[in-house]
Amino acid sequence: MVVVFANQKGGVGKTTTAVNLGAYLAEMGKRVLLVDFDPQANLSSSVGARGKLPTIYEVLRGDAEISRAIHATPVDRLEVIPSTIHLTGANVELVDVEGREFLLKKALSEVKASYDYVFIDSPPSLGVLTVNGLVAAETVYIPLQCEYFALEGLSLLLSTVDRVRQRFNPSLTIGGIIFTMFDSRTRLAHEVVENVVGHFGRKVFRTIIPRNVRLSEAPSHGLPINLYDPGSIGAKSYKKLAEEVLSRG
Ligand SMILES: Nc1ncnc2c1ncn2[C@@H]1O[C@H](COP(=O)(O)OP(=O)(O)OP(=O)(O)O)[C@@H](O)[C@H]1O
Ligand SMILES: [Mg+2]
Repeated sequence: MVVVFANQKGGVGKTTTAVNLGAYLAEMGKRVLLVDFDPQANLSSSVGARGKLPTIYEVLRGDAEISRAIHATPVDRLEVIPSTIHLTGANVELVDVEGREFLLKKALSEVKASYDYVFIDSPPSLGVLTVNGLVAAETVYIPLQCEYFALEGLSLLLSTVDRVRQRFNPSLTIGGIIFTMFDSRTRLAHEVVENVVGHFGRKVFRTIIPRNVRLSEAPSHGLPINLYDPGSIGAKSYKKLAEEVLSRG
């Protein structure tokens, strides 16, 4: 299954969720490919792959075979295609390319059969990179921070998903909304969850990821949370989320 993590709002937990959910699915025996499609390359750093070559950028340019851009991570069965800051230029370089929305889908088509899950991490925008992710994916996971402004961008994201569905990818589904950085002490966080569950019902994953400092420390060690601190509350939450993903099928 190809999943894109999307939300044009920055810092909502797209990368953290892609990495740690992917790590637990791999720990549970699934073969997982992480695709860093953000020029910030945070996902690459999070699994110790920043600076490894080739990246998804060379693949899109036709300068490297995709199989060569797949690198190992510290977790068994978890592999990664890293990104680079040069991917920023793709926004401009791709403007005149025919079929530019399909470049990632085309690249992944050669390798996706080798994996149970392909997770695409996208940047905080709704530009050509995120659209490529939405075109390549079967389903979208939307990480949402439990705060008031979380909802503001959601309708724009959903209308982008609709547009991509109409023009490029008719079978694209919303796989679910994932609450991140939940602070149970604030009343607002509870209200936001209630409100979103009221609107989206079963689309919302039941597992809520709490705010946990261990999750924010792990990337600087190049380790997913299952290796950095498996006993932390953040680790337990992502493990539970992985179980929920598996049980949803
Ligand atoms: N549950 C959590 N508890 C504490 N810190 C977290 C949690 N989830 C993510 N963070 C931290 O919050 C910051 C933003 O998270 P992350 O990078 O995953 O968001 P993002 O949506 O990918 O951001 P961007 O839009 O910039 O790509 C990071 O520093 C990350 O380590
Ligand atoms: Mg990110």
